[in-house]
Amino acid sequence: MKLAILSRAPRSYSTQRLRTAALDRGHDVKVLNTLRFGIDLSGDEPDLLFRGKQLSTYDAVLPRIGNSITYFGTAVVRQFEQMDVYTPNTSYGIANSRDKLRATQILSRHGIPMPATTFVRDRADVIPAIERVGGAPVVIKLLEGTQGIGVILAPTIKVAEAIIETLQSTRQNVLIQRFVKESKGRDIRALVVGDRVVAAMRRVAQGDEFRSNVHRGGSVEPVELDEEFERVAVRSAQIMGLRVAGVDMLEGRKGPQVMEVNSSPGLEGIEAATKLDVAGAIVDYIDNQVAFPDIDVRQRLTVSTGYGVAEIAVHDGSDMVGKKLGDSGLDERDITVLTLHRGPQVIPNPRNKTVLEAEDRLLCFGKLEEMRSMIPDRKQKRVRRLMKKHLPPESS
Ligand SMILES: Nc1ncnc2c1ncn2[C@@H]1O[C@H](COP(=O)(O)OP(=O)(O)O)[C@@H](O)[C@H]1O
Ligand SMILES: [Mg+2]
Repeated sequence: MKLAILSRAPRSYSTQRLRTAALDRGHDVKVLNTLRFGIDLSGDEPDLLFRGKQLSTYDAVLPRIGNSITYFGTAVVRQFEQMDVYTPNTSYGIANSRDKLRATQILSRHGIPMPATTFVRDRADVIPAIERVGGAPVVIKLLEGTQGIGVILAPTIKVAEAIIETLQSTRQNVLIQRFVKESKGRDIRALVVGDRVVAAMRRVAQGDEFRSNVHRGGSVEPVELDEEFERVAVRSAQIMGLRVAGVDMLEGRKGPQVMEVNSSPGLEGIEAATKLDVAGAIVDYIDNQVAFPDIDVRQRLTVSTGYGVAEIAVHDGSDMVGKKLGDSGLDERDITVLTLHRGPQVIPNPRNKTVLEAEDRLLCFGKLEEMRSMIPDRKQKRVRRLMKKHLPPESS
């Protein structure tokens, strides 16, 4: 394959290892400085310029986008996506993982175990917020920190309040998070590639430091993960839209507590700790996936007017309960079921003979008008309340 590694640090350990791993496997690989791209939106087809010239064709791109250039970097990755070039990490995955609040919202929506976290803006809400997550000592985090910078342990509520006020006065938003004491300055970094954890290490903070980041002097050791940690790590990466990710977890009393999912995990610490060829695993994974560039399904499916994607819930008492999908009437109404969600289980492409149960959720593509009548009441009422003024008539 022809692979582009997007990186501003061609000589860094991670970039060198990825490049060498690709060359060793006979791939054509180029390290391209992310900031030298130009996004060309003038022609019929999406295009990219590199150093002012049209970029040649690539099969895949591996973004290593630094924190300081997230906005431009993700725009470049998005352009590659629109050109149908495969990327293991999507632009929205990178952008979402960079913002600790956004990432926490997305992960908690999918039931990923995390330390209790809260976000407030008003002064009056700060003390109740700290108490809600378990009181002091409490962890305060800047939304866009990295390498442990911007993560503070406040010993008392008074100190926490002062720190939060100071940060907010300089227009910095902060998260308030339960301090997971029992992890004792240690955490787990799991390197996820595709559907598996390829390497894992434990990081141990230095002295009385509670942050275990290698950049804060933390030491590393290899670790054999139990199934629960592996499952949570892989799912977290998947939910974030990242197929190459470093998932950081604390060892809580009841199991893993995810702190963050990194979209450009460093390879030096983990390869040194585990002696595993993580770079090789990443390159092999990309090589296997090249034929499947990520398609923005919603965008592609909503180009026909009047059609779209919606989730239909099968309510207890609905006449669909107990019926086979093929007899549910959905097909006749021009509605196609893409996936069936049943509790934690997801059934892709459910067959016509699948019998529907109460509380099933069907992800559907079809005529919006037909689906509207099947969406639960509460949502419908909200929509009506918002529509006080008359809108222009809908086009059909
Ligand atoms: N809620 C918490 N309880 C205990 N330790 C924590 C907590 N949150 C973070 N830490 C420690 O601080 C380190 C940095 O936090 P993290 O959220 O990963 O920020 P960064 O993006 O700066 O790495 C973690 O690796 C962990 O050792
Ligand atoms: Mg971290």
